[in-house]
Amino acid sequence: MVKVVGISGSPRAGGNTELLLSEALKAVEEGGGEAELISLAGREIKPCDACLSCNRRKVCRIEDDMQPIFEKMRASNGIILASPVYFGSATPQIKALIDRAGYLSNALGRVLENKVGGALVVGRRAGHNFALAQLIFFFLHQGMIIPGSSYWNVAFGRERGEVLRDSEGLKTARNFGRKLYWLCKALEGISQPKLE
Ligand SMILES: Cc1cc2nc3c(=O)[nH]c(=O)nc-3n(C[C@H](O)[C@H](O)[C@H](O)COP(=O)(O)O)c2cc1C
Repeated sequence: MVKVVGISGSPRAGGNTELLLSEALKAVEEGGGEAELISLAGREIKPCDACLSCNRRKVCRIEDDMQPIFEKMRASNGIILASPVYFGSATPQIKALIDRAGYLSNALGRVLENKVGGALVVGRRAGHNFALAQLIFFFLHQGMIIPGSSYWNVAFGRERGEVLRDSEGLKTARNFGRKLYWLCKALEGISQPKLE
């Protein structure tokens, strides 16, 4: 069965990022996939300290909530990273996850390669495209495959729950979830290129 993990990088539990991500994950479930939402709210993800010991030890030396989340990413066919816009960027929490998951994946032989990935961002007013690009660049770096949607994956909202009033943003998230699931399913059992 296709498994998709969605990670919300907002420190605000039950906020707009989780709501937007839920729309995409619901579409995955409606298609027949298994979806899990992991919120970084209340979780500790320290920044990478560049010790580089993951290259040797094949785990991250920092003991916090990153390693189990990485295992979920590794076990999934599809990964969605979702973030609020913070000063024109993705949040420090999700950036820390990207840095450490990316290095660890490389240390393990690029284990995220050829998985399907995509991003969602929500903000009050501006900076969405830059934050979206930050997240998408992670997937490109890891050799992952990114589906589109009916628009760029951005939505608007400030106070908790406000994103539910952005009907186009929600529709874009649902369409993205459908495409992501379709792509995961289409790639199941297909041998993919091994890069040099
Ligand atoms: C520290 C901080 C910085 C923010 N910077 C931006 C910004 O640059 N652009 C923007 O449109 N919204 C910005 N916002 C608003 C949030 O992106 C918005 O409230 C979003 O819906 C929060 O998502 P959440 O409910 O999942 O936490 C900022 C909010 C905070 C707390």
